Amino acid sequence: ERRLQPGGNALAAWEALFEEARGCTRCHLYKHATQTVFGEGPVDAPLMFVGEQPGDQEDLAGRAFVGPAGQLFDKALKEAGINRAKAYITNAVKHFKFEPRGTRRIHQTPKADEIKACHYWYDRERALIRPQVTVALGATAARQVFGRAVTISSLRGEAHKLAEGGEAWVTVHPSFLLRVRDNREAEYQRFVEDLARIGERVK
Ligand code: URA
Repeated sequence: ERRLQPGGNALAAWEALFEEARGCTRCHLYKHATQTVFGEGPVDAPLMFVGEQPGDQEDLAGRAFVGPAGQLFDKALKEAGINRAKAYITNAVKHFKFEPRGTRRIHQTPKADEIKACHYWYDRERALIRPQVTVALGATAARQVFGRAVTISSLRGEAHKLAEGGEAWVTVHPSFLLRVRDNREAEYQRFVEDLARIGERVK
């Protein structure tokens, strides 16, 4: 299979896409968010991670997974032997959706129509990167990856062939691990195990 090379046309195409996405008004979320948080990573990455949407810190920094969930994700990737710098990391929805509460901005889960509106960017990122393995982190990501509502528990732990090529895996979102009350350590270990298995697919 032909792979796009970094530094060549794929990188220029990605940069053009990034620029275009900065002005996105495909849904209403751009109105209150600080900026578009686009995916990042090598344009020839064999592995693509898909999160939900930028959080408060990502919205301010303009970069995916730099807040608390991102830090936990980094730790888990390291333990699973995956080099974050070699993966392309993006979100199902590229603007932060929140509800203001006093001085705080409370995360809100994106709705189906917002995920659908953002499919345009997801699709264009995939067309460039063409990852061998795609990982959906949580239900919103899985909805973007499979194009329909799915449950994590029914798809977790095995590869799913994608019509556009490559395979997809589903696991929990790192924020879930920050929230969960029961068996937090076991849930975290299970996440690391999922990542380690997924990492084997691109070795
Ligand atoms: N959660 C996500 O899904 N994505 C981010 O970029 C940060 C937190």
